[in-house]
Amino acid sequence: MVITEKCCNFAAGNVKNALSAKGKRGKKSVSETNCHITMERTLVLLKPSTVMRGLIGEVTSRFEKKGLRIVGMKMLQLNDEILNEHYAHLVGKPFFPALKASMMRTPVIAMCLEGTDAIEVVRFITGYTNGRKAEPGTIRGDYCMSNQQNIVHASDSPTSAAIEIKRFFKAEELFDFGDLNMDRLYSVDLS
Ligand code: TYD
Repeated sequence: MVITEKCCNFAAGNVKNALSAKGKRGKKSVSETNCHITMERTLVLLKPSTVMRGLIGEVTSRFEKKGLRIVGMKMLQLNDEILNEHYAHLVGKPFFPALKASMMRTPVIAMCLEGTDAIEVVRFITGYTNGRKAEPGTIRGDYCMSNQQNIVHASDSPTSAAIEIKRFFKAEELFDFGDLNMDRLYSVDLS
């Protein structure tokens, strides 16, 4: 898993307020300099169904509007080799050959997204695998009607995210542009 920890001094105002409120209730106060917001990275593929239907911008904007940061993005043509590896857990399933063929119909867009709990957040807004069963409001729930043509792939765990990011991106294709805008996205969520 690719994790970067960023000191929350970018959100100094929010942190100060949160900490003084805690202090007033007599709870243990936390040193401002010890606060960290943990950032996580995950892999998303916009599948050929998205490319062919002209939904690249629309689906990408769902992730951006949520507050996930695109730290890597490219178009690439998948082949047998990478798909056998990527979908190794599905080899032997009756739908495997059709799934691979569908993933090679056009190039895909690979994206590395960053945010707090990014892996879970992206899976949540992506929705259930089968578009017919996915909740309205999720990407699959809003844009598709099947299992196979289901718009996006999203890493399902920290272990998969680490492997999949490396599968699709070289280190120099991923960017870290600091704390820009972070104070508008995050707060220190003390409970
Ligand atoms: P899977 O890893 O189970 O789901 P997810 O993409 O939600 O992590 O399956 C990978 C892809 O395989 C899935 O996105 C679409 C395809 N698939 C089918 O075509 N038919 C099926 O019955 C299933 C379960 C998946």
